[in-house]
Amino acid sequence: MAGRIPQDFIDGLTARVDIVEVIDGYVALRKAGREYVARCPFHEEKSPSFTVSPEKQFYHCFGCGAHGTVIGFVMEYCHLDFVDAVHELAHRVGLEVPRTEGGGERVRRGGESLDVLREAADYFRRQLRDHPRGQLAIDYLKGRGVTGETAAEFGIGYAPSGWDNLSVFMGGKFAAGALAEAGLLVKRDQGGYYDRFRDRVMFPIRDARGRVIGFGGRVIGDDTPKYLNSPETELFHKGRELYGLYEARNGTRQLDRLLVVEGYMDVVMLAQHGVRYAVATLGTATTPQHLERMFRLVPEVIFCFDGDRAGREAGWRALEQALPALRDGWQARFMFLPEGEDPDSLVRKEHKEVFEQRVENAITLSTFFYDTLLGRADVSSIDGRARLVELARPYLARLAPGVFRQLMIDRLAQLSKMNSDVLAGMLTGERRTGRPVARPQNAQNDRTVVSLVRKAVSHLLRKPALAQQAKDYKRLIHMKTPGIGLLVEMLDLLQDNPHFTTAIVLEHWRDREHAKALARLARDESLVPHEELDREFLDALYRLQLGYVEQQIEALNGRPRDAWSQQDKQELARLLQEKKDMKQLIIEKSTAV
Ligand code: UTP
Ligand code: MN
Repeated sequence: MAGRIPQDFIDGLTARVDIVEVIDGYVALRKAGREYVARCPFHEEKSPSFTVSPEKQFYHCFGCGAHGTVIGFVMEYCHLDFVDAVHELAHRVGLEVPRTEGGGERVRRGGESLDVLREAADYFRRQLRDHPRGQLAIDYLKGRGVTGETAAEFGIGYAPSGWDNLSVFMGGKFAAGALAEAGLLVKRDQGGYYDRFRDRVMFPIRDARGRVIGFGGRVIGDDTPKYLNSPETELFHKGRELYGLYEARNGTRQLDRLLVVEGYMDVVMLAQHGVRYAVATLGTATTPQHLERMFRLVPEVIFCFDGDRAGREAGWRALEQALPALRDGWQARFMFLPEGEDPDSLVRKEHKEVFEQRVENAITLSTFFYDTLLGRADVSSIDGRARLVELARPYLARLAPGVFRQLMIDRLAQLSKMNSDVLAGMLTGERRTGRPVARPQNAQNDRTVVSLVRKAVSHLLRKPALAQQAKDYKRLIHMKTPGIGLLVEMLDLLQDNPHFTTAIVLEHWRDREHAKALARLARDESLVPHEELDREFLDALYRLQLGYVEQQIEALNGRPRDAWSQQDKQELARLLQEKKDMKQLIIEKSTAV
């Protein structure tokens, strides 16, 4: 989608709008040193941890981790997709968004759908009171123990039976096409439309700002399907939205964890009983986007499942999704309910305190993980321990490097009676051949090189002007180091465009492989003081050059001596000299301050 708007235009737009001005329009910013601060609009807090850097044109909340460029902010805050956010910002500064060849700009109806959905939600709510059959719905809800107060808080309504109630009511104001676009009408094959939701209790689904973006409708009797949800629309994406998230944020002063349950009624009844942090996926499994959203708000997510086999399997699927998304400091836990119960039935039976004790007792991800695997491998035998390692390996390999990964490896080491370092080595595949890898003693090892690349990229992001000082870097592209391509590309881009800010660089990598890693680097507080950035950056570049030269030497040395040509010998001599010079340079520069 980003491809349809030319990158040049994004560059110009990002340079032209000022992030401070834009954000200040939504949340009042206060100047503090080089930056601006405010209470974070993306999570509840008392003291401000939301910062905006005019220099980087980047925002970051130290509380919830939300971060991004001005486009990212507008996407997040206004619940817009990329294209809409670009339009919104372009409109502010009076720019026309150009279309690229054949792109065919899509019609933007999101705005109208929001109006349609808001009015529809009002209509359903009124029908619960006013419609002759509304009483049946009220009786049903009462029968399930829902109070009037809860129904009002969640905006629960009633869609009358009949094929055209909503169309007739809304007809004067909105075109049928607009209602269909919002997911409320279904198109007939032979032409015309009919109401999607008929004779159902209606649960409005709200976005982060509380705007209705879809509905779930439950039958009152035993009809099927039991629940009918809005279809995917421009506003409503099941893989992203969580029922009850808005209400949870609204109803809790300080949200510090979220409980993921399966049903609408579970969320509603838990809230009514004082467990105000439950959310539900909308008839789908938990997706990585769900996880990202939740972990941006809270450090802990607890998944709640039925205790039966199906529940355990669903739990395992959630674990598989959660594993690669987990970062240090994020905690995922799992709770399984007694068979035949769901949170709704349990919380009505038990006190809130008893239910919350279950939440407290939820097992950690690692316990659930190893307990499940231990059910499939008997570690009293060597074979079983080997099997355990094989089962665990693909999962652990997907974990982001960090403390959590290390702890998971340590636990596997304990269970399999293997050495932790050996296991870690197996995961990175370094020692796969089992042959010792000969390395010249003073060569920088792979890990050092990776961290040098990271350092250089991170400093560049912080101060893009540094690129002007880079020389002879193009040959680094031949190094077999992850990230080196990115560094060289970034240097090229910035040498050609000296005025680019951090935000513009980030927008160049939007939707590309390294987008997330870059945003994280831009966000992370660097330990390097601003005055020392130049020196640190050049130091990293020189060391990379040194690494390159060393790799070349290694490659030459790796070849049999008798196959060496005169040229090879000269080349080796040249490389050795360059290595010496490089080392000298590094020493000089590091003491030159
Ligand atoms: P359940 O069938 O477990 O129902 O569906 P529940 O939440 O306990 O419903 P009640 O208590 O009988 O009212 C769990 C969730 O799965 C989705 C809905 O999101 C529901 O809340 N679902 C279920 C559907 O989307 N369609 C269905 O037909 C059934
Ligand atoms: Mn239920």
